[in-house]
Amino acid sequence: MNVPLLDLVAQYRSIKDEVLPAIMAVIERQAFVMGAEVGQLEAAVAALSNTRHAVACASGTDALLLPLKALDLQPGDEVITTPFTFFATAGAIHNAGGTPVFVDIDPATFNIDPAAVEAAVTPRTRGIVAVHLFGQMAVMEALLPIAERHGLGLIEDAAQSIGARRKVGGTWRVAGELGSVGTLSFFPSKNLGAYGDGGMMVTQDDALAERLRRLRLHGGSTQYFHDEVGFNSRLDTLQAAVLLAKLAHLAEWSVARARHAARYTEAFIGHSDVCPPRTDPANEHIFNQYTLRAPRRDQLQAHLKAGQIGNSIYYPLSLHLQPCFAHLGYAHGSLPVSEAASAQVISLPVFPELTEAQQQAVIDAVLGFYA
Ligand SMILES: Cc1ncc(COP(=O)(O)O)c(C=O)c1O
Repeated sequence: MNVPLLDLVAQYRSIKDEVLPAIMAVIERQAFVMGAEVGQLEAAVAALSNTRHAVACASGTDALLLPLKALDLQPGDEVITTPFTFFATAGAIHNAGGTPVFVDIDPATFNIDPAAVEAAVTPRTRGIVAVHLFGQMAVMEALLPIAERHGLGLIEDAAQSIGARRKVGGTWRVAGELGSVGTLSFFPSKNLGAYGDGGMMVTQDDALAERLRRLRLHGGSTQYFHDEVGFNSRLDTLQAAVLLAKLAHLAEWSVARARHAARYTEAFIGHSDVCPPRTDPANEHIFNQYTLRAPRRDQLQAHLKAGQIGNSIYYPLSLHLQPCFAHLGYAHGSLPVSEAASAQVISLPVFPELTEAQQQAVIDAVLGFYA
């Protein structure tokens, strides 16, 4: 059986009757830039994220870049982040004029290790970018006091974790709710995916929200008058219309992902070769990815590929070892937990529309490899 890693066509078929009229309504009005749907989506995402503001932008990458720009980084200013993430996290730090400082991760959740963050703070540190990887939140209650003590911006890269929650001090907190700013991606493979690129920044900070709104529109709050040099980073009205239609399904889709994840874990647990992902008990995981650790990972991947079972390696090379960051001087072995993860992980299909038969085929293929 051919099982794709992600089946966006299956999802499209299930919501076609809702998405197509929403798209056509925008086309009928020809309001392609900053149309009404953009504001409606911002309001809905702010409500979902428990934040006062949501500011839409062109991508999850720009959602990181704009708040990093708002830190007014000077050459040599440092921003601490994880090396085990999609490249955009660190690329945005570089492009905002900062120096990424990579620290190691927690082997259980793959998220940034707060003790390592604390140890990496220097007089040049200006911010922290914590990534809520694969769908579960980083340890915000440990990161917030570090940011506060040292006067640092704390950006939550929630590209993979829209609506994920963590119990902090007995209260459920949503990804993006607690940091200086939370950033979302609507890349099609995300839990809430657009029909193209898109992103969003959420924040409680009125002044920062205002600045982010300016930065996405060439740095001006009044047309043709520019307080600073910003960007053209708007979310298309068409994408906002698609996302509004899809938002109604996000909760049920994330529940379906979690159900598939539980079934995988039930099937894999007890098999000494396969190490299912661990959910921090304080977290509600939304499983943008279901990521195993597996011995002989590359051979397993070849086996799955031969059996037409979709899979992917997120991420094969830690960011501190990427050629573009060679000048930062990180050696092989300097961040061993992240490097080990890169050698061991493999992600399996966990999209909401995955059928039981498809999932069984994935389970059989994985266990068959180790039999
Ligand atoms: C953790 C993380 N950060 C940032 C991004 C960048 O988002 P985008 O692709 O929308 O620019 C992504 C996803 O692609 C991501 O997974």
